[in-house]
Amino acid sequence: MNTKVIKLDPVFPDRDKLEEAAQILRKGGLVAFPTETVYGLGANALNEEAVKRIFLAKGRPSDNPLIMHIPDAGWVERFTTDVPVQAQRMMEAFWPGPLTIVMHKAAVVPSVITAGLDTVAIRMPSHPVALELIRLAGVPVAAPSANTSGKPSPTTAQHVIDDLMGKVDVILDAGGCYVGLESTVVDATIEPPMILRPGGITPEDLQRELGSLAVDPAMGKKLAEDITPRAPGMKYTHYSPKAEVLIVEGTLDHIVEEIHRRLAVYEAEGKKVGILATDQTCGRYGGAQVISAGNRYQPETIAQNLFAALREFDDRGVDIILAEAVEAKGIGWAVMNRMIKAAGYHIIHCG
Ligand code: TXA
Ligand code: MG
Repeated sequence: MNTKVIKLDPVFPDRDKLEEAAQILRKGGLVAFPTETVYGLGANALNEEAVKRIFLAKGRPSDNPLIMHIPDAGWVERFTTDVPVQAQRMMEAFWPGPLTIVMHKAAVVPSVITAGLDTVAIRMPSHPVALELIRLAGVPVAAPSANTSGKPSPTTAQHVIDDLMGKVDVILDAGGCYVGLESTVVDATIEPPMILRPGGITPEDLQRELGSLAVDPAMGKKLAEDITPRAPGMKYTHYSPKAEVLIVEGTLDHIVEEIHRRLAVYEAEGKKVGILATDQTCGRYGGAQVISAGNRYQPETIAQNLFAALREFDDRGVDIILAEAVEAKGIGWAVMNRMIKAAGYHIIHCG
């Protein structure tokens, strides 16, 4: 397949170019597009054949449901059987934005999107390109992250090109994504609503809005521990670069010390080591392969860079990535959730 890459201004996207992509969506084609979280791989959510093509292009297991993207909260009623009060509250507070709400699905939603579940995950993105594209398409757009299944989600068009060139009709390139991690997924079919996946909207923000909030007990647990996550996607090893990832956790000085110690050991074994550091520490590792993920006291900066850094280490061909843990507060919680998955739960505690 010939993939067309179309460059767009992220704030004032050219309408004719967007219309071209919208038409491809309407006709059943695949369009990768930027959202405020990560790039998505979109298809007309009401066209089963088109949705199936998403699973093929990504190599995604068919038991992992997709998020339906809409351009207007008013569309929710068409695709759900009821809108719980707490869902309404969240839509008003956080849409458009990085929040996905799970509700009971209406019959018009094809089961290929929901992987046979009786619920559907819906999100209204805030990125002007995403919003305008979906609005012009005039149909809801099913879109998972636009990466090959299992790889870190794409936060630039180049990441999408690396994974999906030749497998999709169009890639809309409007630069980097602001949040850098996927949306928070909240199940609003239960009371209190439950976070199934941490993401761009923090638990603190949700708590403030909802009063009470639950977290999927399977969160942060290895699948071997035998609790099935309510979001089917959370059971897969996601976000994994080719390199092995080890997270080092502790006080900052102990982290740096432990990374130095391991760096020496692995290098003596002839391994190529990458260090995922922070602005506060990246000067402390001498001549090693170091990437700063951002400012550890502003976790949103780390959220923005994390996936790109993991992909960059792969490009550099490192065998092992030693990653500094950050505080799991605010969006730092989502950062650590992705890091821990990338590391296959391999965490070293020190100090
Ligand atoms: O930020 C995002 O959410 C991005 C952009 C493109 O919008 N999309 C994204 O989609 O991350 P994806 O497919 O990579 O992740 C969707 C997650 C998966 O963990 C999936 O299992 C879960 O949402 N999910 C989808 N429908 C669900 C449902 N009905 N019940 C529970 N979990 C659901
Ligand atoms: Mg994904």
